[in-house]
Amino acid sequence: MQRLALKLRGEGRRIAFVPTMGALHEGHMSLVDEAKRRGDFIVVSVFVNPTQFGPTEDFAKYPRTLDADAALCRERGAHCVFAPPSDGMYAADFSTFIEEGLCSKGLCGDHRPGHFRGVTTVVAMLFNIVQPHAAIFGAKDAQQCAVIRKMVSDLFMPVDIVVAPIVREKDGLALSSRNRYLPADLRAKAPSLYKALLAAKAAVDSGERDAALVKSAFERSLAQEPALRLQYFTLTDARTMEPLSKIRPGETLAAVAVNLGETRLIDNITL
Ligand code: PAF
Repeated sequence: MQRLALKLRGEGRRIAFVPTMGALHEGHMSLVDEAKRRGDFIVVSVFVNPTQFGPTEDFAKYPRTLDADAALCRERGAHCVFAPPSDGMYAADFSTFIEEGLCSKGLCGDHRPGHFRGVTTVVAMLFNIVQPHAAIFGAKDAQQCAVIRKMVSDLFMPVDIVVAPIVREKDGLALSSRNRYLPADLRAKAPSLYKALLAAKAAVDSGERDAALVKSAFERSLAQEPALRLQYFTLTDARTMEPLSKIRPGETLAAVAVNLGETRLIDNITL
């Protein structure tokens, strides 16, 4: 992959890259569409990265659907799927990690210790292998996007980071590879998460600026669906992920994680 990438760069081609863990859906395909606007050689990576999963998380059962993923990428116009084997990225004596120390604090950083260290490390490795001019990430993983932007800026990585909007089902549920874990009865309850985010947004749109009161509006709405067990709801600066007590419209991210049955869902909205 690296040899191919360097050859393409030598020929003046522009590489646009979509890093994924596979189990691809329309949300990922919207990233491929964005990649086509950003480059003329589109690479999608499919690698379920072990270092970003905690010991009790779903690494072993994470859906692996490489043939279907490759077919989707081909149909959508990607030129290359880079899918290293599960033991193909980390040498037995691998010992170098990248740790971002500001944006990775709080939110998922509190609930998934070591997660962002695994993400930044694998993304840096993938950037070195794929040599992209631009890389496209989904806004659903808002904290991941902030962490990666910060890593790229801190370490002078010559990659444009592009964040593409969340793609939702008609009922509002944000697309995610993990949605396929949800049995039908729980799937029917999942849209209440986005409804609660919209309740927070409605409070801000009607003039509320006190973060505690916006949080109450969110919690009142979420309480309508007790199956959604709140892990966190945080109002943060959208760029640094620092918690805010006063809403700054346009710059504030409302980010949430819940458990629904065995499945963890995250979502967010800019207020
Ligand atoms: O967002 C994901 O799918 C993963 O965290 C990423 C960026 C591909 C790194 O493994």
